[in-house]
Amino acid sequence: MTKSAFLNTLYTNDNLYVLAGLNSNLVDLIYLDPPFNSKRIYSATVGRKAAGASFKDMWTWKDVDEQFLGTLAVNYPALARYIADAGTIHSKAMMAYLTYMAQRMIEMSRILKDTGSLYLHCDPTASHYWKGLLDGIFGKNCFRNEIVWGYQWGGVGKRNFARKHDIIFWYSKSDDKENKWIFNDQAMRVPYTTKDIRWHNHEEGKLLRDIWEIPTINTQSKERVGYPTQKPLALLRRIINASSNEGDIVLDPFCGCATMCVAAQQLDRKWIGIDIEKQAAGILVERLSDDAGLFKDFIATDQIPKRSDIKEVQPTAAIKQRLYKEQQGKCNGCGVELELRHLEIDHIVPKAKGGGDYYENYQLLCGHCNRRKGSKPMEYLRMQIGTREKMLNQEVFFGE
Ligand SMILES: C[S@@+](CC[C@H](N)C(=O)[O-])C[C@H]1O[C@@H](n2cnc3c(N)ncnc32)[C@H](O)[C@@H]1O
Repeated sequence: MTKSAFLNTLYTNDNLYVLAGLNSNLVDLIYLDPPFNSKRIYSATVGRKAAGASFKDMWTWKDVDEQFLGTLAVNYPALARYIADAGTIHSKAMMAYLTYMAQRMIEMSRILKDTGSLYLHCDPTASHYWKGLLDGIFGKNCFRNEIVWGYQWGGVGKRNFARKHDIIFWYSKSDDKENKWIFNDQAMRVPYTTKDIRWHNHEEGKLLRDIWEIPTINTQSKERVGYPTQKPLALLRRIINASSNEGDIVLDPFCGCATMCVAAQQLDRKWIGIDIEKQAAGILVERLSDDAGLFKDFIATDQIPKRSDIKEVQPTAAIKQRLYKEQQGKCNGCGVELELRHLEIDHIVPKAKGGGDYYENYQLLCGHCNRRKGSKPMEYLRMQIGTREKMLNQEVFFGE
């Protein structure tokens, strides 16, 4: 049974469906550290808490959930064109990766409060493409910082400079004019170095700039659980302290071994973590109990939450009329023009995948398409009627 979202909950599921089930204007801070498009499969270290956990970072169009493509193509046409261009300039894999991430980012921007902030952690594999994607969803005036996280870990470069930094983009939900985002600059001081002290003889430390030197977790550290790509707690605590206050809600939709959830718990924030990997769930639960100390007061579930902030409407004749007008009298599957009585109301996202009885989730299909689709997603129907090929050639998705 689906339920409204709880706080301090770890969801094991595809974050697209979980995000779609969370209310709008719910969270104060989102941190995400998604796969970077590195074309690798990451596995956890044997013998560590996280042994057995793994995730892939390779992308093809098969990863894209086509039932959510409509929102992207209709509401963000410039972004859809941008992503198509990335497919030409870089690769089809980059196009699939960006589409996959854009679908989720649209949901994240909806879930964020007006005073909220989003921190996207990536690296130069895709950071330049990410900047355009985030501008396309949040707006360029919501860009706050490009933070460089520098570290020492890893080998040296022989044919290029050693790559020793990640990029963290900070976007606020409100723009320069509204100026509503939280920024606790005074909590962001770091100790003066001996060199600085010549010029500043007070004790409160210096304000941070956008280049952060924070060590990665060393192999002997107690903090290391062996989960691939685990991030240091110190990094996440800094982000939480900068852009949220005690009692606020923090969300990490790609939470891995729950570093963000642990940091949020330590700093008296409420949290929601999501990760698709089943193996990850065990380690997350163990770590939350061990590291964040004392508390067992959280929920681990694979159920998709259900939004409680939108009005459920039953599929009445009036709804059918409205949809008919919007779809210009055509079946949303095969595109054939038909009289109203030959079209049937269908759930775009099937109820089994968290789709609810609300207007945005209804469409009209002809009887034939509706039976072919059944309770499967739109992707299935599109494959059946051959539009998937056109999508891959960008004709339907990008209108070219
Ligand atoms: C780079 S890791 C995150 C590491 C994390 N910051 C930490 O400190 O442990 C990315 C995570 O995203 C998860 N992931 C990938 N696709 C996902 C999806 N669609 N929904 C939820 N989680 C996903 C992977 O399983 C992996 O654990």
